[in-house]
Amino acid sequence: MKRLLPAVALTPCLLGGAAWANASGAAVYVSLIFGAGDEGWGVDLGWGAELHVTFPLDELPQTECHPARAITSATGPFLRLAFRGLEPRVFGGLYYGHEAGAGTLGGELGLGAVFDGPGPSLGLLTQLVASGSDFEGFLGADWLAPAVELGVGATAGDRLGFIEASCIVGRPCRSAEGALLAPPTAAPLGDAVLDRWAAAAAAEGASIAAFWQLALDLQALGAPPALVARALQAADDEVHHTALCAGVIAQLGGTPPALALPVRLRAPLAGAAGLARLAAESYVDGCLGEGRAAAEAALAARLARHPGARAAQRRIARDEAAHARLGWDVLAWAVGRGGLQRQVAALRDARGEAVSPIEVPPSAVDQGQLPNGLLAEVAARHAVAARARLDRLLA
Ligand SMILES: [Fe+2]
Ligand SMILES: [Fe+2]
Repeated sequence: MKRLLPAVALTPCLLGGAAWANASGAAVYVSLIFGAGDEGWGVDLGWGAELHVTFPLDELPQTECHPARAITSATGPFLRLAFRGLEPRVFGGLYYGHEAGAGTLGGELGLGAVFDGPGPSLGLLTQLVASGSDFEGFLGADWLAPAVELGVGATAGDRLGFIEASCIVGRPCRSAEGALLAPPTAAPLGDAVLDRWAAAAAAEGASIAAFWQLALDLQALGAPPALVARALQAADDEVHHTALCAGVIAQLGGTPPALALPVRLRAPLAGAAGLARLAAESYVDGCLGEGRAAAEAALAARLARHPGARAAQRRIARDEAAHARLGWDVLAWAVGRGGLQRQVAALRDARGEAVSPIEVPPSAVDQGQLPNGLLAEVAARHAVAARARLDRLLA
């Protein structure tokens, strides 16, 4: 039987839609191979091992700033170098993956070569892959053999999930795979400005847990205690911001939404994968996200006429600027640990613009909320400044 199925495995999913120039890893697997031979179709047991790399083309997906529509997929070429048993093979083509729950569903289309004789045998290959953090299942087809392979494998390597641009004010809470966990949406208050303040309150509440997670991640990675302490201080700040937003809603005549904290925090991640996740999230959520939040709040404070809204935005601007500095300091520490220059450099095209899902009229500036057009301008300016600072950090 001549077959050429991809020695699948690893998780092509890694390409974090945004953050990573490439993702690489290794895998071992076992499989059942249904193939056409001289005596009709038969079944073989298969096993193999591979090294793989995937190159995402879409660096940072544009989010719609709506949790249900956040883009968490990636496309790009991939290459696998593998052994099926002792038989070497190469498999390359195009990968598409989409985040699904805690894992990723992906498809591959490509050409492969098996070195099983004097010269290589070629084949047209397609494959479906369902992957989690350290395992995957696959169903592949070699259309020229023909043969079909069904297998499971254990994987290791980069698996960072998808990190999309945040549309949330301040630091968002993320899953273990990097997916953004949107704060709960409060019931509409019947007024766009009040709804915007309610969304801000929910985002500030999510930031409390985000900084608890950061503190745990830092501790797991052996970061200096001062950084851990600053993360905990930032969580305290976010408690205060949540209360400030709720207070403004009350002052404007609305009913503040209840604070909803996540039931479960993700586990901290040590080692190289944890350091890489920390660096990526520090740039996207801290340097870009909180720096942008600080700039937006500062402008909102300058334009606001309502004293309570002005005071709240002024305090938020001051604290978010400190949180952004913490993001830069954590990023510098992670890069200083070594081995992350390339991954972090890939973040420089990350877009930090945030467009609120709730549009407000121009007059909302009086109550401390900026229209989407102004938010976009601030975000664009901040993204340029953050990119320049990232370049200096990596120089
Ligand atoms: Fe913050
Ligand atoms: Fe905040």
